[in-house]
Amino acid sequence: MHLLSSLALLLAATASAKRVVPINIEKAPGSDLPERRLRRRAHFEESLENNRTGYFAYVDIGTPPQTIKMHVDTGSTDVWVLSKTVDLCNNVTLQDEFGRCYDTFDASKSSTFKPVVRDGFIIQYLDGTGAAGDYFNDSINLGGANLQSMQMGIAYNSTNQWAMMGVGFSENVNAETPFPGLIDQLLLQGMIGVKAYSLWLNDMESATGTILFGGLDTEKFTGTLKSLPLIPDKTTNTTREFVVNLTSVAVANKDRTITASNPAAVPVLLDSGTTLTYLPGSITSKIFAELKAVDDTRTKSGSGDVYVDCNLRNDASLELRYQFGGQNGPLISVPAVDLIFDLPGKGDIDFPILPFPTSRACSLGIQRDDKNFILGDTFLRSAYVVYDLTHNQVALAQSIQNATNSNVIEIEAASQGIPAANGTGTTKKDNAAPLGMPASAAAGAAMAAFVSLLVGGALLVL
Ligand SMILES: *[C@@H]1O[C@H](CO)[C@@H](O)[C@H](O)[C@H]1NC(C)=O
Ligand SMILES: *[C@@H]1O[C@H](CO)[C@@H](O)[C@H](O)[C@H]1NC(C)=O
Ligand SMILES: *[C@@H]1O[C@H](CO)[C@@H](O)[C@H](O)[C@H]1NC(C)=O
Ligand SMILES: *[C@@H]1O[C@H](CO)[C@@H](O)[C@H](O)[C@H]1NC(C)=O
Ligand SMILES: *[C@@H]1O[C@H](CO)[C@@H](O)[C@H](O)[C@H]1NC(C)=O
Ligand SMILES: *[C@@H]1O[C@H](CO)[C@@H](O)[C@H](O)[C@H]1NC(C)=O
Ligand SMILES: *[C@@H]1O[C@H](CO)[C@@H](O)[C@H](O)[C@H]1NC(C)=O
Ligand SMILES: *[C@@H]1O[C@H](CO)[C@@H](O)[C@H](O)[C@H]1NC(C)=O
Repeated sequence: MHLLSSLALLLAATASAKRVVPINIEKAPGSDLPERRLRRRAHFEESLENNRTGYFAYVDIGTPPQTIKMHVDTGSTDVWVLSKTVDLCNNVTLQDEFGRCYDTFDASKSSTFKPVVRDGFIIQYLDGTGAAGDYFNDSINLGGANLQSMQMGIAYNSTNQWAMMGVGFSENVNAETPFPGLIDQLLLQGMIGVKAYSLWLNDMESATGTILFGGLDTEKFTGTLKSLPLIPDKTTNTTREFVVNLTSVAVANKDRTITASNPAAVPVLLDSGTTLTYLPGSITSKIFAELKAVDDTRTKSGSGDVYVDCNLRNDASLELRYQFGGQNGPLISVPAVDLIFDLPGKGDIDFPILPFPTSRACSLGIQRDDKNFILGDTFLRSAYVVYDLTHNQVALAQSIQNATNSNVIEIEAASQGIPAANGTGTTKKDNAAPLGMPASAAAGAAMAAFVSLLVGGALLVL
């Protein structure tokens, strides 16, 4: 699933991009060659390009390899490419409507290309874009992990601008006849010992994040990694998406006093393919009230933005705190600077009445949605997330943005789940209380405090 808001598209227009190459961070090789060749590469890492509209990985497909830039999406499972002949990339009218097209794949130039299901590939995303074409098998290489054969889609018709790398559950592939998705293939072909990966999106301003298959990197987070069970799909009673219980959301800064509450849970999807965060009105009404935000997304004539005062970013202690799985579960803080964005071209906007000067109008990275509850990149950038499809868990810890060191722990095949590892990285601002620490743990710092705990109401179904 992915949603690209007007905000994201506007941001994209100002993005600068750097091409990156995959980084192999495998530890020192084994003793002799034959053994090395047989030895499982238990983890490998792939750099992600941050283009603000989302996170992209460069993947080699076919023989000889064609490098394709793919959007990494935890909210879907199909891996697919745009055919060289896809309508979007060959029709300017379509590009005017859906945006310019990215890397395409030329099937006729790959000697290992094998058609599998003609017209079998069709996918539709939550934002209304979609693609259709065939399924095929070919080799795929990501971050140095070379899969001999993998079933993928090739689109001849697409309203989606780029190739997709779905890293969800195989149960979620879109085909009539199910087949193993990427993470299952990595396990089947001996590349990883357990179906797990870690996603570190990094700072909005930085060019790259990483996806680490088969392991986790303790230098990229603080505190303890805490696991949460995934919530099974109601109708099928199978776990097929990264949905967890969000138990409270608080707006906090150092001046406010604590108010406590112990509300029911809201099932939220952790979705790297979604740019913003979407929460039910019961939560957003309180966040918006606290931030004096004006919601201009509810009508057709609206701008699609939630306006807030840019000056809120001047309060370095202002943050949103997301608590999962009850009081002892993971707590992730998202600083205001990562939630509040400049609006390009303010002169062109027909603002509603705002409680602050329009010259100070910014856009908030959280919107209301009463059906699909999604924590997208405006949440995920603050979290280090380990996705475990073997044990149906995710684990979260507070991300360290711009971390440069690396200390990779493999998730063992025999493990019972994601290890409760402690972060070893350090934040740059070392005398301030690290964001994300519970108030009681923020020793020496001014007592951080919750303004309001917001999640309430009944359990809602996605
Ligand atoms: C990043 O996004 C912008 C806007 O969509 C696009 O113009 C630019 O080419 C992208 N950069 C890369 C390397 O794809
Ligand atoms: C698919 O694309 C082809 C051209 O590549 C076009 O002729 C056809 O109308 C498109 N189909 C749909 C359903 O848009
Ligand atoms: C391009 O797409 C538009 C809109 O679907 C269609 O009307 C037009 O015929 C297409 N042009 C070509 C050359 O295929
Ligand atoms: C394509 O690959 C899948 C595994 O991903 C395999 O089950 C299937 O037999 C292959 N099909 C062909 C035609 O090679
Ligand atoms: C991370 O680095 C970027 C520049 O690459 C900088 O703009 C940003 O403020 C840094 N973030 C943190 C949390 O230090
Ligand atoms: C999520 O929260 C609901 C309501 O509190 C609870 O019934 C359910 O067991 C929780 N699910 C998981 C997987 O923690
Ligand atoms: C759902 O599946 C689990 C095992 O995966 C089982 O324990 C549980 O009873 C099932 N629930 C329903 C309602 O069938
Ligand atoms: C992580 O740190 C906590 C104390 O902060 C400690 O109790 C726990 O044993 C540590 N866990 C590991 C795996 O080292």
